[in-house]
Amino acid sequence: MKSPNTWNAQSWRTFLIKQHPTYSNQQALQEVEKELKSYPPLVFAGEARNLKKHFAQVQKGEAFLLQGGDCAESFCQFSGSSIRDLFKVIIQMSAILTFAGSCPIVKVGRLAGQFAKPRSSDFEESNGKKLPSYRGDIINGMDFDLDSREPDATRMLKAYNQSAATLNLLRAFASGGLADLSEVHRWNLDFVRSNPFGKKYEQLANQITQTLGFMNACGINTQNTPALKETEFYTSHEALLLNYEEQLVRQDSLTGQWYDCSAHMLWIGERTRDLDGAHLEFLRGIKNPVGVKIGPTATKDEIMGICEILNPSNEEGRLNLIVRMGADKIKQNFPKLLESVHKEGRHILWSCDPMHGNTIKANNGYKTRAFNDILSEVKSFFDIHKANGSVAGGIHLEMTGNDVTECVGGSQAITEANLASCYHTQCDPRLNATQAIELAFLVADMLKERRI
Ligand code: PEP
Ligand code: CO
Repeated sequence: MKSPNTWNAQSWRTFLIKQHPTYSNQQALQEVEKELKSYPPLVFAGEARNLKKHFAQVQKGEAFLLQGGDCAESFCQFSGSSIRDLFKVIIQMSAILTFAGSCPIVKVGRLAGQFAKPRSSDFEESNGKKLPSYRGDIINGMDFDLDSREPDATRMLKAYNQSAATLNLLRAFASGGLADLSEVHRWNLDFVRSNPFGKKYEQLANQITQTLGFMNACGINTQNTPALKETEFYTSHEALLLNYEEQLVRQDSLTGQWYDCSAHMLWIGERTRDLDGAHLEFLRGIKNPVGVKIGPTATKDEIMGICEILNPSNEEGRLNLIVRMGADKIKQNFPKLLESVHKEGRHILWSCDPMHGNTIKANNGYKTRAFNDILSEVKSFFDIHKANGSVAGGIHLEMTGNDVTECVGGSQAITEANLASCYHTQCDPRLNATQAIELAFLVADMLKERRI
């Protein structure tokens, strides 16, 4: 076991680090770091503790985790309406899943800080020109020229400010009426009416209508019951750029413990989860609930190592393993891995990211994902857990509230040829609003079965 005494917010700096930018202007970097450190935290430690309690419920099958948002937030597409539309879709999905699962849905956005991206290659080539890869707006620019691709520390300040503004709006939506259940249900009814596959979802939607009517008749409605009008909405992002995360680590005055106050939950990716690497070192010392992506090559020893480093005292709700193997590989690789890890009795919240193992290149060069592959990976995830006697705890999605054409399939039958019409992602292809709500109706059946 690593000693808690050797951890501090900077201890990651003495470890090997992957996927990190090299800033040529060290003085500018230090000035930015100093400034960030003086800024207020974005979240309060007590909120992260509440999320950890919710994660503990999820892990036991008493709740379900819905985590979703952009692959990468961007500076140029930042707008109130995009944040509102994403929030609305997540709340709509949550209403469907709450009813199907008869359990609370823990809502965690991939936003208000999801800016830094790991890349499979350090360089990108186009028209015979080779440049450093784009690593997310918090690090460098997307334009294909050398100047834009140079890491610029001042981008961290802009990312902080955009995160603060995003969080401010999310908090307003969560408590100010945009989560009103009867409104949310009305949007879902509109969706069912206008969707070509709507018939398939009608039964569930009608059951919700009847339930709301029954509750209303009993005197429980959104006017007199705050729980039907307000919601808790948490934020998360990948803790990749540790120069940024370090500055937002704060000591909680109530408990004396350290929290990364840039978001409620932080995760690390498939490419940066080395047991002796800097990212795991950073994550082990913060008390937020934390996640680690688990790809198709992960071994039992690696997972046990992750548990030992991140959750040595085996606390409930501390650790989320986010499985992202791909629709085929999950069937081959996950059953045995899950069985062997499950036997060890570690508390783990297992969730499924059906996006990152299913990325393909369309014939016209666009990166895309097929709706049916995404659905298939989630279905296998539920089936494998059922066969193993463990809990399929949640889903982790790349999605947007906008009507983009980035993933193929779904009821709109988006084809590879349609991708160009509305392809806006900064990085990976996202489910659009329609595809995301469709997926929620389909996952609802799986959740209902989990309940039984
Ligand atoms: C991501 O979640 O955007 C990501 C890069 O995932 P992974 O680390 O699983 O590839
Ligand atoms: Co992604």
